[in-house]
Amino acid sequence: MRKSTILITCPKGIPPLLKQELAGLGFPVLTEVIAGVSTEGTLDDAMRLNLLLRTGHRVLFVLQEFRANDADALFREVSASAWEDVIPADGYLCITSSVENPSIKDPRFASLKCKDAIVDRIAKARGKRPDSGPERDRSVVHLYWKDDRCVVYLDTSGEPLSRRGYRKIPLGAPMQETLAAAVVLATGWDGSRNFINPMCGSGTLAIEAALIGLDRAPGLLRSNFAFMHALGWNEALWSELRDRVKKGARKGVVGRIIATDSNPDAIEAAKKNAATAGVEHVIEFSVCDFKDTPLPESGGVIVLNPEYGERMGEIARLEAAYKDIGNHFKQRCRGYTGYVFTGSPVLAKKVSLKPKRSLPFFNSGIECRLLEYDLYEGSKKVKKQKALPD
Ligand SMILES: C[S@@+](CC[C@H](N)C(=O)[O-])C[C@H]1O[C@@H](n2cnc3c(N)ncnc32)[C@H](O)[C@@H]1O
Repeated sequence: MRKSTILITCPKGIPPLLKQELAGLGFPVLTEVIAGVSTEGTLDDAMRLNLLLRTGHRVLFVLQEFRANDADALFREVSASAWEDVIPADGYLCITSSVENPSIKDPRFASLKCKDAIVDRIAKARGKRPDSGPERDRSVVHLYWKDDRCVVYLDTSGEPLSRRGYRKIPLGAPMQETLAAAVVLATGWDGSRNFINPMCGSGTLAIEAALIGLDRAPGLLRSNFAFMHALGWNEALWSELRDRVKKGARKGVVGRIIATDSNPDAIEAAKKNAATAGVEHVIEFSVCDFKDTPLPESGGVIVLNPEYGERMGEIARLEAAYKDIGNHFKQRCRGYTGYVFTGSPVLAKKVSLKPKRSLPFFNSGIECRLLEYDLYEGSKKVKKQKALPD
């Protein structure tokens, strides 16, 4: 089977974690870009990546690479590929694109040209042309065109992999599933210690922690991927891969996963989401103020994602909560590594502890930080931590 470059897209800030994931799965890392990492493999490998990756968004398999100065050249080059062997004539095709070419005023025109080239070619070869439109639930082709460089990808994911399918009840400002997985991986949590998640909202962090702790593949939760709509996709291998990863999953986690929120509706939603994800049996949910969240003595990680507001009034309203988090960390969380995920540098300062690390992430376009605090046993380090100026 043909090997090609595979580009896995992800939000900015996530490539270092995606690289770790790829290396762990035995894939080489070819290049890292601002919002993606490339590797190489076959379409079967792309299928495996869709099943296993926790932090990637879309798995794009390179079908063509060429130079094109204008739309006619694009049409010619795309028409030259045997699309009738990839996309069913009675199927449905969606073209997505990222276009920056001086001859193209509207990127939709480039997508249209690319679509016409593909469906015309299929019509000529098979006597029937596939339908096309914006839905990403069947065949998806992605066109990347920068200056005169074109790469045409088969998007093997279709709907982004962040849509795991378990979050039936979103609440407030939920974190995207892939971002939550990246945050959990950044804490180094692997299921052997306790994972404490006060202010859990709809439960995304705790659910992703549970999936990681159980070594359960996130792709098992989804029944549809775009690769399933490619001609000749390896259905037998897919079912074998699914069986293999299902069998390899752990039955339970050694550490405890505790998720709490002061809002009973949030806990209700989080429980339902965890049940849909099949991990409710390993998460202990309760309604309480974050300060009353149980903290087992054996230590572990405590991760909070408080609201961070965007307007000045909201920020002022939230200051006290951040100060309380800092005090709680100092007074109650010895033996833990503390994490605060926030999009507000002003509020982050109110925690008044010096972070050991500050990792950049992006949540709905807002630059956020995952701040890590050492809260060692014996409080030596905690006492030594300098209070930061307001
Ligand atoms: C930004 S949301 C968390 C979103 C979550 N990461 C998710 O993916 O759904 C913040 C949560 O903190 C909760 N909260 C605010 N103040 C709290 C407090 N003092 N104690 C406990 N929970 C609190 C809110 O009810 C809200 O659900």
